[in-house]
Amino acid sequence: MIKEELEKLKKEVLEFVEEIRKNSQDSIGEIKKKINDIKVKVFGKSGSITTMSKGMKDISPEERPKVGALINEVKNAISDKLTSLEKECEERELNEKLENERIDISEPSKGVVKGALHPISDVIDRLTDICVSLGFSVVEGPEIESDYYNFEAMNIPKNHPSRDMQDTFFINDNILLRSQTSAVQAREMEVRKPPFKIICPGKTYRNDSDSTHSPVFHQMEGLVVDENISMADLKVMLTTLMKRLFGEDTTIRFRPSFFPFTEPSIEVDVSCPTCHGAGCSQCKGTGMLELLGAGIVNPKVLEMSGIDSKKYRGFAFGFGLDRTAMILNSIGNIRNLYKNDIRFLEQMK
Ligand code: PHE
Repeated sequence: MIKEELEKLKKEVLEFVEEIRKNSQDSIGEIKKKINDIKVKVFGKSGSITTMSKGMKDISPEERPKVGALINEVKNAISDKLTSLEKECEERELNEKLENERIDISEPSKGVVKGALHPISDVIDRLTDICVSLGFSVVEGPEIESDYYNFEAMNIPKNHPSRDMQDTFFINDNILLRSQTSAVQAREMEVRKPPFKIICPGKTYRNDSDSTHSPVFHQMEGLVVDENISMADLKVMLTTLMKRLFGEDTTIRFRPSFFPFTEPSIEVDVSCPTCHGAGCSQCKGTGMLELLGAGIVNPKVLEMSGIDSKKYRGFAFGFGLDRTAMILNSIGNIRNLYKNDIRFLEQMK
C-alpha cells in the first residue's frame, strides 16, 4: 500500500518538476515559488513524506526497514530533482543578469566635458609667467585693507582731493575694500630690503559701474626698487612685458599723467592687437589702447615705508587685468567677466 503511494508521489512530483522546467514563460520568481510549494507539500509539517514517516510506527517490525529505505529513496529522488531545478534557476538568473548588465564596449563615448580657465585667471597666469621669467616675485595682499596702506602710505592724505580718483567701499573710517593693488607697495617695502622686484595680481574695488567699469575688477601691481632706477628701466620693462603678452609687433606709448605716489607719472598705451594700430572698433578707431598707470616711485612714498630715498629709487606700474582680458578675447562688456554665464565661458575655451 505505502509502497504504491510512495511511487505515485514520486511520479507526480517528478512530472510536475518536468512541467515547470518546460514552461519557460515562468519568471524565476514564479519557479522559485512553485519549488517552495512542493517542498511544503512534501516535506512540510503535514507534508506527504512527513506523514508517511510518522506512520512508520504502525508498520510491523519486519516490514519497517524496507519501508524506511523506500521512503528515503523517494525523499532523495524528489530532493535531487528539486535541487537540480533550483540550480538551473540560479544559472538562468545569473545569465539574465549578465545579459542585462552587459557593457557594450563598441558604443561611442559621450565625451568628456572640458572646462577652461576664466579669461581673468588666464591673463593672471600669462602675466605672472612672463614676470617670473623676468625675475619678479609674486606676492599677495589683503582685499580688505586699511586706509593707511591703500591711501596714506601712497601719499594720498585724508581729505585730499586726489582721493576723488578712487572712490571705494568703506567698512569704517579706517577699513575699506582696496581700490588699487598699489596698497601692497608699502606693505612690501616695510618688510623687504632693496633691491627687489615684486608683482601683485588681485581683486580691487571701486564705486564705479558701466560697460567698461565694474565695482570689482582686477589689477596687477609691479614694483622694482634698486639703486640707479630710471624711466629708461621702466620703459624697457613695460615694452618687454607688452611684447610678450600681445606679440612682438606691439608698440607702446607713454603719456604724461599724475598719480600721488609716482613722480613723474605716466599712462601707457599699447598698439591695438586686433588692428595693429590701423584703427578698429576695439580701439574706437585710435589704434591704441590705454592699459597701465606707471611712474617713478615718489621719494616720499619710499621714505614713509622706511627706504632711504637718497640711495634707492623705484618704478611702479599698475595694470588693468579686466581690460587686458577683454582685449585678448574681444569681449565688449566687462560684466560678461562676472556673470558666470556658462554660454559665455564656453566660448573662452
Ligand atoms: N594704482 C594706479 C591706479 O589704480 C595705477 C598705478 C600703479 C600708477 C602704480 C602708478 C604706479 O590707477
